[in-house]
Amino acid sequence: MGDGGTGRPVRHPVQVDREPEEQAVETVRQLLALATPEGAAALSRAATLLAGGMDAVSALTRLRAEVGTDLAGPAWGVARQREKARSTFGPDADRLLFTGDTLEQAGRPALADRRAARLLAEGAEPVADLGCAAGTDTIALARAGARVVAVDRDPVARELTRLNTTALGLTGVEVVDADVVDLVAAATDGKVAGCRAAVLDPARRAGGRRQLDPDRWSPPWSTVTALLDRVPAAVVKVAPGLDHDRVPDGIEAEWVSTGGSIVEALLWGRGVSTTWRRATLLRDGRLSEVTADAEPGPAPVGPVRGWLHEPDPALIRSGLMSLVAADATLVDPTIAYLTSDGPSGSPWLSSYRVADVLPFNLKKLKAHLRARGIGRVVVKKRGSPIEPETLARRLRGPGSGSAVVVVTRVAGAPTVLVCDPLSA
Ligand SMILES: C[S@@+](CC[C@H](N)C(=O)[O-])C[C@H]1O[C@@H](n2cnc3c(N)ncnc32)[C@H](O)[C@@H]1O
Repeated sequence: MGDGGTGRPVRHPVQVDREPEEQAVETVRQLLALATPEGAAALSRAATLLAGGMDAVSALTRLRAEVGTDLAGPAWGVARQREKARSTFGPDADRLLFTGDTLEQAGRPALADRRAARLLAEGAEPVADLGCAAGTDTIALARAGARVVAVDRDPVARELTRLNTTALGLTGVEVVDADVVDLVAAATDGKVAGCRAAVLDPARRAGGRRQLDPDRWSPPWSTVTALLDRVPAAVVKVAPGLDHDRVPDGIEAEWVSTGGSIVEALLWGRGVSTTWRRATLLRDGRLSEVTADAEPGPAPVGPVRGWLHEPDPALIRSGLMSLVAADATLVDPTIAYLTSDGPSGSPWLSSYRVADVLPFNLKKLKAHLRARGIGRVVVKKRGSPIEPETLARRLRGPGSGSAVVVVTRVAGAPTVLVCDPLSA
């Protein structure tokens, strides 16, 4: 909510400098005001002005006159968060309340639904949502039929979860003020906060910056491992870059990707693990999975052949590349590009026909592309310091042809593979 989302130092009258606790009290007061019929009307008016393209300063002036100074800023702020949330939350976005922070921390509802379904498949209930923020996981769990204990030490998060579950007509949700570190330390008999199952999604950002060190997450890594040790029906969201060595024995690690990016990484507790490592690909409503019960070992290394394959990032991160293309070899032991004699039909690999293989030399590469009438290139890289967009600009020429230029290392040597794209 803050400054009404103008991005400029325009302050709503109530937004004076405050201590974090005072600010939280004020934000909770504003959220409760938005949950009244007058608040709903203010939100609806703000949404209309926003949809009409009105700029923030004019919209706030108009809103203050129409709905009063108390509701104008918060309504405009939430309308802006809802607009951002719509692409991920769909129609729910217009019923939910978010602050900027909680929307930034929110996972994708479709992924929360998937996690909830898997966690609940064994029938462990109720479920503790340990760090509920605006309630994305709580909502998914409640919609899947579970009773939920939603925990957060942040009063704004607790109020959001309360209001959001109510707005969606969900029942069976208890919102609790507690420190997750303490709850997990006290967990016994496979239960935490009286629940037989748990979702933990530690905050991995602080002061607007990503915390790469899991010991600095909130709650920290020690709480993650304690939960996995004490509560068998647990799932923890972790950073996709988590070091494999950190994954405790008996815990399944899963990387999920969609649209060519990893969207989440999960650790599944011993009661719900069904394998050792899993890569999951969600594409066009279809789900593909690769699993391994033990380290499958790397793919063998070999010379560049007629086709180059770019593996999906979840497959790479899970370490399961060698399982998807039995006849493919790596171009270099340290580089995640595979090569084989033909295209791959695997959803895990994007395949490119290799037209030429050249040692990396910018002048020679330019001359080569010109000679082949190639004027537009898409540059991909792995194991090279080049900046793809910059190189693509420098390689632009008069030719009408196009190519995919892959800058990488082949058997240790900086190399360029000029490829024809197989398909978009
Ligand atoms: C990443 S967010 C959770 C996001 C949520 N799963 C979603 O998808 O909307 C982490 C939440 O954990 C809460 N949190 C962090 N450390 C905590 C602790 N020690 N005790 C209780 N809550 C904590 C934060 O206040 C924050 O709301």
